[in-house]
Amino acid sequence: MKILVINGPNLNLLGLREPEIYGRGDYKALCAKVAEVAAGCGVEADMFQSNHEGVIVDKIQEAYGKYDAIVINPAAYTHTSVAILDALKAVQIPTVEVHLSDINTREEFRKHSYVSLYAQRTICGHGFEGYAMAIRHLCGKE
Ligand code: DQA
Repeated sequence: MKILVINGPNLNLLGLREPEIYGRGDYKALCAKVAEVAAGCGVEADMFQSNHEGVIVDKIQEAYGKYDAIVINPAAYTHTSVAILDALKAVQIPTVEVHLSDINTREEFRKHSYVSLYAQRTICGHGFEGYAMAIRHLCGKE
């Protein structure tokens, strides 16, 4: 099984960025956690990060026929991007949405997620562990 893990804008700045909300671990540590969990489940996971909406749309389109599942933290695009939702709907790859913080208990504008309209599950408020939960869910281990 091959899983594509997509991270949206500003997640490259993990550790530096509002650590009281997003934690002190950096993006490299997140990559290491994902690699460890994927290896434990016996699956392959590729990490991808972009600050650009169109680049994320391209990546989702390119995933067609190559990946069995997607884990996506669309970051700020969660709340704005119909284009990312449409790309996911087009390729029909099983997808789990992840947020480090609990978007339901923050500002009003974070409570709506376009990606949730397609994702089979949304995990939020568990920090890096949310990615582990998503991978385990997709490989049927949770
Ligand atoms: C986030 C939540 C979003 O509202 C925010 O714009 C992010 C990160 C999270 O992981 O908690 O960039 O997706």
